[in-house]
Amino acid sequence: CGIIGYVGEQSALEVALGGLRRLEYRGYDSAGIAVVGAGALKVVRRAGKLANLEKALAENDEGQVVGEGMAGTTGMGHTRWATHGGPTDVNAHPHTDCTGTIGVIHNGIIENFTALRAELFAAGHELESETDTEVVAHLLEAELGRPGSAEATAVAASEGTEGGRHPLTEAVRRVCHRLSGAFTLVVLHRDFPEVVVGARRNSPLVVGLGQGETFLASDVSAFIAHTRDALEIGQDQIVEGRRDGVTVIDFNGEQVEGRPYHVDWDASAAEKGGYPYFMLKEISEQPAVLADTLRGRLSPDGAIVLDEERLSGEDFRDIDKVFIVACGTAYHAGLIAKYAIEHWTRLPCEVEMASEFRYRDPVLDRSTLVIAISQSGETLDTLMAVKHAREQKARVLAICNTNGSTIPRESDAVLYTRCGPEVGVAATKTFLGQVAACLLVGLFLAQARGVLYGDEVGAYVEKLQKMPDLVARTLGTVGPVRELARSLSGARTVLFLGRHVGYPVALEGALKLKELAYMHAEGFPAGELKHGPIALVEQGVPVVVVVPSPRGRAVLHDKVVSNIQEVRARGARTIVIAEEGDHLVEPFADHLIRVPATSSLFSPLVTTIPLQVFACELALARGLDVDQPRNLAKSVTVE
Ligand code: G6P
Repeated sequence: CGIIGYVGEQSALEVALGGLRRLEYRGYDSAGIAVVGAGALKVVRRAGKLANLEKALAENDEGQVVGEGMAGTTGMGHTRWATHGGPTDVNAHPHTDCTGTIGVIHNGIIENFTALRAELFAAGHELESETDTEVVAHLLEAELGRPGSAEATAVAASEGTEGGRHPLTEAVRRVCHRLSGAFTLVVLHRDFPEVVVGARRNSPLVVGLGQGETFLASDVSAFIAHTRDALEIGQDQIVEGRRDGVTVIDFNGEQVEGRPYHVDWDASAAEKGGYPYFMLKEISEQPAVLADTLRGRLSPDGAIVLDEERLSGEDFRDIDKVFIVACGTAYHAGLIAKYAIEHWTRLPCEVEMASEFRYRDPVLDRSTLVIAISQSGETLDTLMAVKHAREQKARVLAICNTNGSTIPRESDAVLYTRCGPEVGVAATKTFLGQVAACLLVGLFLAQARGVLYGDEVGAYVEKLQKMPDLVARTLGTVGPVRELARSLSGARTVLFLGRHVGYPVALEGALKLKELAYMHAEGFPAGELKHGPIALVEQGVPVVVVVPSPRGRAVLHDKVVSNIQEVRARGARTIVIAEEGDHLVEPFADHLIRVPATSSLFSPLVTTIPLQVFACELALARGLDVDQPRNLAKSVTVE
């Protein structure tokens, strides 16, 4: 879910709506706004995309968004990815207490909400939604007392007595002790327009510090148009936002300092820049983001440079096993990393979906390195895998695109992909960044273990530095892929095959097609096909094959060429991705897509490109929104 809270001098409605437009990629099945002003808390919420909420708020004939009675300079907004309760108006956030005095928005899952609900019902509270969030509004009501009641008067009078803390902040702190699970909360109160209060446990929350205004948000994109000065809020902390600044305390009430930082990209980085969809822009940015991720990675003495290292050379030398944990597209980057890490370091390396990792009791100790790959740095499945690894004393290295997010903070070493904000929900440029980062980590480990030396590592890095040009060349020649994709928009199923690093690329191609075009698509190791999946092949079924280079690994290449023939013999329409100059595949390709020749470990950086374009174009041909595919969200902060 996406969250924004605001207190300042501008129209809170406008600020919140502007923030939600930038946060919508975090969830878009319903949206809502609350504003405190003129002695009232006004809430408007609607199922469906943000546009539905905007329509509900548009009052006059010119279509200007004014929101009747929603004048006020304290407010908040929420865009939802449903967990508890379907995407309806009633389940949309903000949620309020019985009297409509307190408004709450929430990201995460409150795991003990059933018990809390029962308790609240027993105490006479009436809850209208099926959400876990609504209990928070009612618990706050119980803390603060109903307006006009003796408790409420006492609470209002107590302002300033809790170590100078605001009563709303104190109530939020107490309620947090009742909640288990993951949550970011932002809370408003009708009678306290001077504050907006946020709390976080295991879900993201950042603060934007403006002149005479404060923003609380899921990520900086929500307030980047207003300020680039941000404050990181730690785990189990509460922030009281006021016009003149913030106070941060922990759940025990101790004052703590947030970590201030400056956001080094500007608002235009999160805009479409003339492209009809973010995804098209992000695909086109890949040569640049790859170059950025690779820049300055080799020190003058030939060592690979990570961004943060809290481990010694000895710690790295002692590593005897590597696990990679990640979800979705990042998991596919991890599968590619396995080939590089095992080849270069000779360390055994296992790759596992983060959601499965900790539940099977993996064998971990001080000499295990767990590599967590996450674009957002907030994916809860991955974060929990990291926490489990740390509990077992394993070392953790994070590959992440979001500075200051939770996963890198919980890790011993970090390599940041420098891809800038990715708004399209299906990952494209950050996948390329992750693959490049995985290759760098592979070289780093090989060097740390003394398996590869400076000059060898330098030679690999030099070759890697050439990849942005090859990616640009690939993007320049993918035109025919668009036409091909449009001609396949009626296909029922599409299969993707590959071997070696081409296998994860096949998986990623299939995932992109599922996510974007809602088509049945599956990726298989080409050699596994004959053991079952080949039964899916019938006349006209499109089969996309990622062919390895014939240079170097001729055996592998020839095996894949045989696999192409096997599916073709059974009626498949073959779409073959092969390197320039590979003539052996020509007789068996119904459609041939050429990519520049590279060494095999680097090849995913080019072979993935046509598959991204293929899925994107096919989805567009089917009339779908490629930036916001149904049911998905970009950062999933629930397990
Ligand atoms: C979500 C997104 C995927 C993404 C995955 C992991 O499910 O829809 O596109 O690959 O999360 O995200 P992360 O931020 O951890 O890379």
